[in-house]
Amino acid sequence: MKVFKNKVALITGAGHGFGRALSLEAAQRGMKLAIADIDKKALNKTENDIKKTGAKVISIPTDVTEEKDIDAMVKKTMAEYGEINLLINSAGVAIPGPIWELPTRDWEWILHADLMSQVWALKRVIPIMRKQKGHGDILNVASMAGLITSPLMPAYYATKFAVVGMTEAVEYDLQAEEANVGLHVFCPAFVQTDLYHTEEHRPEKYTDKSDPYYSSEIFKEGQKQAKKDITTGMPLDNVPKIIFKALEDDKFYILTHPGMNPAIVARAKNIPSGKGPDLKALAPFMEETHEVEEG
Ligand SMILES: NC(=O)c1ccc[n+]([C@@H]2O[C@H](COP(=O)([O-])OP(=O)(O)OC[C@H]3O[C@@H](n4cnc5c(N)ncnc54)[C@H](O)[C@@H]3O)[C@@H](O)[C@H]2O)c1
Repeated sequence: MKVFKNKVALITGAGHGFGRALSLEAAQRGMKLAIADIDKKALNKTENDIKKTGAKVISIPTDVTEEKDIDAMVKKTMAEYGEINLLINSAGVAIPGPIWELPTRDWEWILHADLMSQVWALKRVIPIMRKQKGHGDILNVASMAGLITSPLMPAYYATKFAVVGMTEAVEYDLQAEEANVGLHVFCPAFVQTDLYHTEEHRPEKYTDKSDPYYSSEIFKEGQKQAKKDITTGMPLDNVPKIIFKALEDDKFYILTHPGMNPAIVARAKNIPSGKGPDLKALAPFMEETHEVEEG
């Protein structure tokens, strides 16, 4: 079985949600931590809570939409610990809105925050892990939205499908080289994190208060729906344990909502027959996205 004790974890998005919960779980397991987030106040809170467990931790304020920040994050972690054994790419945002309404800047924001951040981190951390002795693990946080689709969030689905596809493709390349690095992709449906506060983490460069879209009804409706979806999702409590167990068991796809499995299978089965998205057929699966798993 994999042992994480005394190993080094670098975790993005550690200020809130999955990143914070996974950082605390890693600390409980005796890992040494480098934690990163754009929200400095929340990052400090996670750092203080980790210190209470006795684990070693450094905080690295990072805007993951900037490649230079990812570069500095990896360099600071290496300067402190000299190795990285577990990378968790959890920083991310969720942006609703139909394609004919959503400003291009919001597409750029989510593509950088949820996809390019992971590309830039993998580009740097894989070579580091390959030079190290022992096994390295990388967990990319994607979503159920990387395996199936539903209405009103095309930018989110596009980004999450890209994360799943990128992670699968890189895994082949690592296997071909018999590399000592294992990839994993986390694909949950709704979980009770702080994700509906995405707007609070919008970097200045993607901000334009003069754009009427941000005071439109469609924007407000999207924010309201996101809050409803996230606050009625699965409680976060058991998720870090499910994820670490899956890492130990070397699972590639890490899933938390088994009620969604028929939807994954149905989508795959429809593809060869040429059958596309069907709003009516989707309805029963949407009920399942809020199921709670005991764990
Ligand atoms: N909560 C869910 O229901 C759910 C379901 C599927 C996938 N996800 C994915 O999980 C990931 C983590 O989200 P979460 O649910 O924990 O939400 P969250 O908002 O609780 O945590 C996301 C963290 O990322 C940080 N962040 C945002 N932009 C950043 C930036 N530019 N640079 C650095 N840090 C940044 C935020 O400050 C926050 O701490 C996201 O990619 C999200 O799409 C969440």
